[in-house]
Amino acid sequence: MRNRRFLLRERPTGRIEPNTFELDEEEVPEIGDGEALVRVEWISIDPTNRTWIGETPTYLPPVQIGEVMRAAGLGRVVKSRHSSYEEGQLVQGLVGWQEMFVASDEALLLPVNEVADVSPSAYLGVLGMTGLTAWVGMTDIGKPQPGETVVVSAAAGAVGSVAGQIAKLNGARVVGIAGGPEKCAILTEQLGFDAAVDYKAPGWHERLTEATPELIDVDFENVGGEVMDAVFARLNLHSRVVLCGLISGYNDAEPPPGPPHFGNLLIKRTHLEGFIVLDHFGRISEAIGALSGWMADGKLKPLETVVEGFEELPRALNMLFDGANTGKLVVDVTAG
Ligand SMILES: NC(=O)c1ccc[n+]([C@@H]2O[C@H](COP(=O)([O-])OP(=O)(O)OC[C@H]3O[C@@H](n4cnc5c(N)ncnc54)[C@H](OP(=O)(O)O)[C@@H]3O)[C@@H](O)[C@H]2O)c1
Repeated sequence: MRNRRFLLRERPTGRIEPNTFELDEEEVPEIGDGEALVRVEWISIDPTNRTWIGETPTYLPPVQIGEVMRAAGLGRVVKSRHSSYEEGQLVQGLVGWQEMFVASDEALLLPVNEVADVSPSAYLGVLGMTGLTAWVGMTDIGKPQPGETVVVSAAAGAVGSVAGQIAKLNGARVVGIAGGPEKCAILTEQLGFDAAVDYKAPGWHERLTEATPELIDVDFENVGGEVMDAVFARLNLHSRVVLCGLISGYNDAEPPPGPPHFGNLLIKRTHLEGFIVLDHFGRISEAIGALSGWMADGKLKPLETVVEGFEELPRALNMLFDGANTGKLVVDVTAG
C-alpha cells in the first residue's frame, strides 16, 4: 500500500498555483511500539491553511518547503500498537494532506465521540473547531443582547453561518454579508437571518445602511478590507468587534492598508478583540454540548460543501477564495 501526500513545493505569492504543491507517494510506514496507523477519511479546508504556507509565521510556524501540507482532518485507526488507540476508532487532529498518518505521543490525534446519524465530517464543522470558533467568538466576545443588531461577514461560510444563528438564538437582529443572491437567500430563507447584503451587488453599501437602521452593536468579522470598513462606519456606541478572520487579504503579498473608518471605533468606544480558537480548545465539550443541543432541537442548521477525491485538495483550497463553498468545506479523500 502507498501513501499519497501533498508536499509544499513553492510558496505562493497569490492564489494557489499548480506548482504550489507536489503530489508525492511513499510506502506506508511500518508502525512501531507506541504508534498507530490512521487512514485519513476527511480533510478540513480552512482559510488559515493559506496563511500557513506564507513566509511569515502566524500563530503556528510556516509549513516548510518539502513538508506535508498541514491541515486538520479525521481518520480511522487501522492498526495500533499504542494503548490509547483502538482499531476502528475515529480520531481527529492535524493529519495533513496525506492518506495515512502515524499517530504517537508526539503526533497526537484525539478520539471523536461519534453520535448516531451524524456524518463524521460534522466533527470538522459545526461540532468541531468551526463550531467552537463561532460559539466562543459570539458568546464570549460579541455577547449579543436581545434586540441588538449583529452583522456577520462571510455569513454563508462555515464559521459565519453558525455565528449568525447563535446570535439569532440570543435574540439579536442578525444581518449577514455574503457574495451573491443565492447565498443571501440561504441566509434569510433557511437560516433565519433578518436580512442579507450581497457585497458583490452594486449599491451594497446602501443595502447595509437600510438593513442596519439602528446601527451595528456586534460585528463578527471574518473578511476585513472594504467589507469590514463599511461595517466600521456604522458601529454603534459601545459596540463589539469580534475579530475572527481577514480572509480578503490572505492571498495578498503585502498587508492591506488600514481601514479608513478605524477612527469610528474610538468615537463609539468600541471593544475590538481578536481571538484564535486553539486557545479555547479546553471549552470544546461545552461548545459541542450547546451546538448539538440546538441541532437536535432543529434550531441550528449546519451547512456543508463536500469535495470528493484526494487529488482535489489544492483546488478545494482555492474554492474558499472564490466563494465556491456554502458552509463548511471538507474533502472526502476516500471518494472519487
Ligand atoms: N480566529 C480563529 O481562530 C478562526 C478559526 C476559524 C476560521 N477563522 C476565520 O474565519 C473566517 C471564515 O472562515 P471559514 O472557515 O468559516 O471559511 P468560509 O467562510 O467557509 O469560507 C470563506 C468565505 O469567505 C468569503 N470570501 C473569500 N474571499 C473574500 C473576499 N475577498 N471578500 C469577501 N468575502 C470573501 C467567501 O464567501 P462569499 O461567497 O460570501 O464571498 C468564502 O466562501 C476566515 O477569515 C478564517 O480565517 C478564524
